[in-house]
Amino acid sequence: MTDSWAAFGADLHIEPIGPGLRSGLMDALREAVRTGRLTPGTRLPSSRTLAADLGIARNTVADAYAELVAEGWLTARQGSGTRVARRADAPGPVGRGRDPRARPVRRRPAHNLMPGSPDLSAFPRAEWLKATRRALTAAPDMAFGYDDPRGRVELRAALADYLARARGVYADPERIVICSGFVHGLTLMGKVLRRHKVRRTAVESYGLDIHWNLLAEAGLTTPCIPVDGLGARTGALGEVPGVGAVLLTPAHQFPTGVPLHPDRRAAAVDWARSSGGLILEDDYDGEFRYDRQPVGALQGLDPERVVYMGTASKSLAPGLRLAWMVLPEELVEEVCEAKGGFDWMSGVPDQLTLAEFIASGAYDRHVRAMRLRYRRRRDELVEALAERAPGFRVSGIAAGLHAVLELPEGTEQSVVQAATWQGLALEKLSRFRHQDAEPGRDGLVIGYGTPSESGWAGALDALCRVLP
Ligand SMILES: Cc1ncc(COP(=O)(O)O)c(C=O)c1O
Repeated sequence: MTDSWAAFGADLHIEPIGPGLRSGLMDALREAVRTGRLTPGTRLPSSRTLAADLGIARNTVADAYAELVAEGWLTARQGSGTRVARRADAPGPVGRGRDPRARPVRRRPAHNLMPGSPDLSAFPRAEWLKATRRALTAAPDMAFGYDDPRGRVELRAALADYLARARGVYADPERIVICSGFVHGLTLMGKVLRRHKVRRTAVESYGLDIHWNLLAEAGLTTPCIPVDGLGARTGALGEVPGVGAVLLTPAHQFPTGVPLHPDRRAAAVDWARSSGGLILEDDYDGEFRYDRQPVGALQGLDPERVVYMGTASKSLAPGLRLAWMVLPEELVEEVCEAKGGFDWMSGVPDQLTLAEFIASGAYDRHVRAMRLRYRRRRDELVEALAERAPGFRVSGIAAGLHAVLELPEGTEQSVVQAATWQGLALEKLSRFRHQDAEPGRDGLVIGYGTPSESGWAGALDALCRVLP
């Protein structure tokens, strides 16, 4: 039968019901539509393809299709083939209860200043496509097979060069592991830390609860160390009993925006050396510094005590799900083991494309162009706030894609509520406060990187309108 299979067309799993071929096929198709397995609009294979796949005469399928069209189950139109009819009484898909394409639409805000996203409209589509073409053309066949769990060597080599040059990371390709976002890397580190019998990982008193929760899921508790105007008070690490690791955002504390003071960097490394602890460095937006050279990575101070984690989520787009860990040599094997069998490696085409994107200089060009765009927006934000809300302090503006605006005490909730009514999405500073942290000031975390270029001015206007 194999040689009669059509080498073209779409697959359809259908088994004629009963003895008659034509009526059996019709019954099976009716059943599939009735139960919702074939949803309205689904394109069926051509009669020739289905006949070849089922090993029956083409006319039998053509007749069955024609009758089902006449009965209203299917539609046939020149150029768009035979499809399941969009009948008013069509049931939802089997087992899913509803058509995912018909998901209730959550109203998107008219303006979005939520932190956490770059300007997605700036994704360098054309350059990325060019890099994909070059990378896939040059890739050996072997590249498309099961490969090194650390990731493609081309990408590890390109990252090693880039990170050493641009971020001051000590980055040998042998100790780089590619992962699917920072959250993936953190999850892997959670497992490794537990295997090392670490029970407590300190975190900053402001940060993302999703990261704290991932550590908790790995079985780690997350006591916090305070954050002030010089960044995390790393000198306090020795005072928190039983801490085996600390998660830090040294280049640009998230969300307060303060770079970790050099003395605090040194204190963190001293703590790690003297206690045998590990520093997890989240360098999520280290490329974007506006007033002077980006602050180099902490990892450069002691590559054996710091796990450096970078991501393409801010520099390119979160949807890529590409990130990298630069590990102390002794942890490389363990991190790969922690990945386990189902999480063997990230998709090769995107890895190869990113490698080419970096090696060709397109990554540097993109980061530079975006740095100019975000710096201009930051300046416009600061200017507009100085005019509209002269008494309020804006901080964390030297770097990154967000700034913090301090608000008069007790107004945080009402400002965010007013913003929601105006169709402006905003985030409260308190949203990022650790549950054990001292009470802090009211404020807004303004993600000025998030809107598209065309949406930026409107978002800024909307922000100015909702301020008290
Ligand atoms: C503080 C911080 N770390 C890391 C990330 C990047 O996460 P991922 O690489 O999983 O997209 C983000 C993204 O919003 C972030 O805000």
